[in-house]
Amino acid sequence: MLTFNNVDFSYPKYSVCNDLNLSVEKGEFVFMIGKSGCGKSTILQLIYFNLLPLSGEVEFDKYNSKTIRPKDLPFIRRKMGIIFQDFKLLNDRNIYDNLSFVLESVGTPKKEVMKKVTSVLTDVGLLHRRFSFPKELSGGEKQRIAIARSIINDPILILADEPTGNLDPDTSHEIVELLFKINERGTAVIFTTHNYEIVKKYQQKIIKIENGKAIKAVLKQKNVF
Ligand SMILES: Nc1ncnc2c1ncn2[C@@H]1O[C@H](COP(=O)(O)OP(=O)(O)OP(=O)(O)O)[C@@H](O)[C@H]1O
Ligand SMILES: [Mg+2]
Repeated sequence: MLTFNNVDFSYPKYSVCNDLNLSVEKGEFVFMIGKSGCGKSTILQLIYFNLLPLSGEVEFDKYNSKTIRPKDLPFIRRKMGIIFQDFKLLNDRNIYDNLSFVLESVGTPKKEVMKKVTSVLTDVGLLHRRFSFPKELSGGEKQRIAIARSIINDPILILADEPTGNLDPDTSHEIVELLFKINERGTAVIFTTHNYEIVKKYQQKIIKIENGKAIKAVLKQKNVF
C-alpha cells in the first residue's frame, strides 16, 4: 500500500533520507523509531505528499510522487488520517465543530455530517463531550478527539507522529489501545515514538531510521533505540 523506492530528501543544509527504501502493507501496524532528528516527521510528510523526494519515489495506493498532481492531494489526504503530539485541535470551536469542519470542508451533506461525527465520537468514547471546547479536555481526551478526526473520512492509513509524547504512561497505553482497535478494523497505522515501553509491550513490526535509511529492527534489548 505504501512504498519508498530509493528516496532521497534534503532540507537546504541537511540530508534526511538517503536511498531510503521501506514498505507498509494494507492493515499493518508499524512502529517507526530512531534518534531525535533522524527524520521520522520528515518521512511522514513525504508519505503525506507534503514534501516530495528529490529523487526516487513514494508510492501510496494508486498514487506516485513522480506523477502526482495538485488536484490529487485532497483525495489522497482523505485516505490518510494524521495525528500529532500536540493534538492540533481548533481552540475557537467545540468538539462537534472541530470534527464537522473536516467533513464540511469536503462538501459532505449535513445529515451525513451528524451521523459521522456521532459515530467517530462513539468510537473514541467521547460522545458526551461533543459540546466541550478543547481547553476543557485533558491531554488524553484531546488526543482521542484528534484520533476521531483522523478516522472521520475512513482512511486506509493513519500517520501518528509521537501521539503519546505529551501523555502520562497510563493515558499513553489507552491511546495505543485505541489505535490498535482502529487497526483491527483494517486501517494501517504508522506510529513514531521514543517510548521503549510501548514498543516492547505491543511487539509489532519496527522500522528504525538511521543515517537516512530504514533498518529492520528486532526488539531484543533497549539499545534498539
Ligand atoms: N523545515 C526544515 N528546514 C530545515 N531543516 C529541517 C526542517 N525540518 C526538519 N529539519 C531538520 O531535519 C532533520 C530531521 O527532522 P525531523 O523533524 O524529521 O526529525 P524527527 O526524527 O522527527 O525528530 P524528533 O524525534 O525529535 O521528532 C533534523 O535535523 C531537523 O533539524
Ligand atoms: Mg518528529
